[in-house]
Amino acid sequence: MTPLLQVRGLVAGYAGSRVLHGVDLDVAEGSTVALLGRNGVGKSTLVAAVMGMVRPSAGSVVMEGRELAGKPSDVIARAGIAIVPQGRRVFAPLTVEENLAISVRRKRPGRWDVPAVYELLPRLAERRGNRGDQLSGGEQQMLAIGRALLANPRLLLLDEPSDGLAPAVVSQVADVLATLIQEGLSILLVEQNLRLAFQLADEVTVMQKGELVLRCPTLDFRSDEARARQLLGVA
Ligand SMILES: Nc1ncnc2c1ncn2[C@@H]1O[C@H](COP(=O)(O)OP(=O)(O)O)[C@@H](O)[C@H]1O
Ligand SMILES: [Mg+2]
Repeated sequence: MTPLLQVRGLVAGYAGSRVLHGVDLDVAEGSTVALLGRNGVGKSTLVAAVMGMVRPSAGSVVMEGRELAGKPSDVIARAGIAIVPQGRRVFAPLTVEENLAISVRRKRPGRWDVPAVYELLPRLAERRGNRGDQLSGGEQQMLAIGRALLANPRLLLLDEPSDGLAPAVVSQVADVLATLIQEGLSILLVEQNLRLAFQLADEVTVMQKGELVLRCPTLDFRSDEARARQLLGVA
């Protein structure tokens, strides 16, 4: 069966420096793939290239049979991919409600609208009149997730959603993501928090220096902790 997302030979980087050296990656419909790797290996560059925020210089990004490499981000969003970027990037001077309203403007038809987002994330409803910069880290993360959902994606790219959050808040984020997974959303989850990745992902892939060096079911990865540690460069 053709995967929902099929990335082949993706090459991308920034002025003068190539970061991704030919990445192949599949995300099957309804599955969650965790993308692991040390800082600076190119995980964010990969999700940015899939989303069209960084322009690939070679390779292909095929979503539901449609070539998206080199297309602008808004075209890619309408093809069914949304991103929750690293660092969350909510609009600080705008209220929760205004942050969500901005995302509604060019949305695909589907289950997600502002009331549905408030139902999934009731804390956002309570905070709807508060500005982005008045929110806690966890609330900002929920807002970033809510904004991405309003695009009614079939594939959600999440770039380190647990970054900087207290453990109790990470577990709230985990619950929300588990609900979305149960509903059938496909996810590519970049994480440094192995517990979260292992809890949510069916499969794990590891990046080193702009290349994916391993891909396996999460259970296999967990069962060989020494190898996992070596691949991730942790003591
Ligand atoms: N906007 C940018 N301009 C130039 N270089 C960048 C930019 N973003 C990331 N890089 C560089 O690209 C490499 C990969 O970064 P990144 O994709 O953010 O890694 P990761 O997400 O795995 O930590 C790093 O060497 C980083 O310094
Ligand atoms: Mg990153």
